[in-house]
Amino acid sequence: MPAKTKSHYLLLANIGQMVTLQGKSAPRRGSALNDVGLVEDAAVVCGGGQVIAAGKQREILRDPWLKKNKRKLQEFDCQGGVVLPAFIDCHTHPVFAGPRLVDFEKRIAGATYEEISAAGGGIRSSLAAVRQATRVELREKVFGAFEAMLRHGTATVEAKSGYGLTIEDEIKSLEAIRDAAHRWPGTVVPTLLAAHVVPPEYAGRGDEYVGKVCEEIIPRVAQRKLADYVDVFCERGAFTLAQSERVLAAARSHGLGTRAHVCQFTPSDLSGLLACRPASLDHMDCVREEDLKALAGENTVAVLLPAANYFLGHKEYPRARRMIESGVAVALATDFNPGTSPTPSMPFVLSAACTHMKMTPAEAIAATTINAACALRLEGRKGSIEPGKDADLALFDVGDHREIAYWFGWNRCVQMIVSGQTV
Ligand code: NIG
Ligand code: FE
Repeated sequence: MPAKTKSHYLLLANIGQMVTLQGKSAPRRGSALNDVGLVEDAAVVCGGGQVIAAGKQREILRDPWLKKNKRKLQEFDCQGGVVLPAFIDCHTHPVFAGPRLVDFEKRIAGATYEEISAAGGGIRSSLAAVRQATRVELREKVFGAFEAMLRHGTATVEAKSGYGLTIEDEIKSLEAIRDAAHRWPGTVVPTLLAAHVVPPEYAGRGDEYVGKVCEEIIPRVAQRKLADYVDVFCERGAFTLAQSERVLAAARSHGLGTRAHVCQFTPSDLSGLLACRPASLDHMDCVREEDLKALAGENTVAVLLPAANYFLGHKEYPRARRMIESGVAVALATDFNPGTSPTPSMPFVLSAACTHMKMTPAEAIAATTINAACALRLEGRKGSIEPGKDADLALFDVGDHREIAYWFGWNRCVQMIVSGQTV
């Protein structure tokens, strides 16, 4: 048991296997995605919120500084378990009021996501409850989601608005994210997704709504520093490529980063979006072969979301192997949301990535740690266990890192360390 009074330094001892991901803080591509820097019989020393030392336990314990300062150390016995850099969930939509059970049952009965959406279900059916909810009510929902994610090994979350779709309700959603983040020990990256779908009051006037997003919502959110990124849902039934590029250009002109949902159901030409320098392009189920080379040459990360494919009952999954072979930087995330992926579990995402996209367990771990950090441009601080990086670590009660992707529906995460503290 950890001591009640938190000491300044924490020693994680008796780690059976540690996945360090040590190396260049850059996206892992091709065969490098499989090379996760395993250390057996390891230990980590944390202090000041960061990793001070990480490596073989016998070498760490020999360190003269450690011997001299033993009294200042809180020791945590990992009992032979596996330690990873905490997961980074680089794509989530946590600001919603409740589940979408009608859509769920319609899909079970055979309707597709796009059919349900065209009939007024989907994203639009989450709007009324978010618009009615208070900021405090939404904060509690968001906080609950962050807590569930934390218990499954996640310490950094990208969190999008996108179920308000008026200036007031998008701002309320981003404030709910900010307020939940204040209470949560992990790191939160807020994203404005006002261009999630055209709201019903703008039906048939998509361009006018895009004008409002670009000229009112983005400038206000940027001025109030409520978001780091702007996202857009570029898809048939949501926003066209031209509209999406307009949204991302407005984001850049206000100093915000960009990312996009694209190629989830229909293929798109990525060149115009890539010109907006997105940190990530997400889903990418039907990315065109001819775009892979350009994508591989960019710092843009392809964020694959197989839990959404699972929940929508799709037979096809994003072609992870083809992307990895082509040198594309690939990350994985939950896509936590009420319509396509109501799971907070990164271990489930690992399972889906291995079973359905034929990624190796090691690749899936790299894609949810260092590459996910790159998707949020946080690779200088997060995503690996090495001196100077934030001490965000996840302990699993398994003997081999591959088991994290192997056991599904069974959460083996038993302890989180966030900023060098047990939580
Ligand atoms: O990433 N595709 C757009 N947005 C979400 C779904 C949102 C919803 O259905 O509520 C996604 O899958
Ligand atoms: Fe999404």
